[in-house]
Amino acid sequence: MTTPTNVSSQPAATEGGKVKAIFLVGFMGAGKTSVGCALATALGWRFVDLDARIVERTGQSVAEIFQQDGEASFRQMETDELRHLLVELKTVNTVVSLGGGAWMQAGNVTLLKKASLPVLFLDAPVEELWQRCLPEQATRPLLQNEAKFRGLYEARRATYQNGTLRVETQGRSVEAVARHIALLLGLAGTSVTP
Ligand code: S3P
Repeated sequence: MTTPTNVSSQPAATEGGKVKAIFLVGFMGAGKTSVGCALATALGWRFVDLDARIVERTGQSVAEIFQQDGEASFRQMETDELRHLLVELKTVNTVVSLGGGAWMQAGNVTLLKKASLPVLFLDAPVEELWQRCLPEQATRPLLQNEAKFRGLYEARRATYQNGTLRVETQGRSVEAVARHIALLLGLAGTSVTP
């Protein structure tokens, strides 16, 4: 992995009060990737999934990284990748989805707060999150059984709420959640696509 570039303390992605990047956080199954994609399409912005960038950079799946290098290595990769990304955000309007544990790392929270970026917490009842994740059990190393899943969600929930705008996703389509976020941030009707 290459050395991360230093992140300036200047707001990276707001210019003249205009939001230029949006971060989506939340537990596994919250819809961060699908909503992020839909939101980016609606706004005509770039979409980045932080986990996908790690997979691309390392040539390993998230499950392989957990298995071969351990969770601590994966967490370091997340922070490195986030630092890289924050530098790019100065020039490209971007919607970013973070993996479910990224907002649990105090260093990552500090990076995003320094950059004055909006962070949205996508949420749903834990039973629904579990049902949404079941088909993808093989690709998510922390998805072992329902009791562990619920325990981890409960342990994390307060931290997700800290410094974020909470968005309920239950009973809403991906597109409806994306529209809701655009409205919340005053970006509805601002698509840059021709
Ligand atoms: C994790 C969530 C996953 C992935 C990794 C760890 C977590 O991302 O980053 O398996 O700690 O909750 P998704 O939330 O996109 O599944």
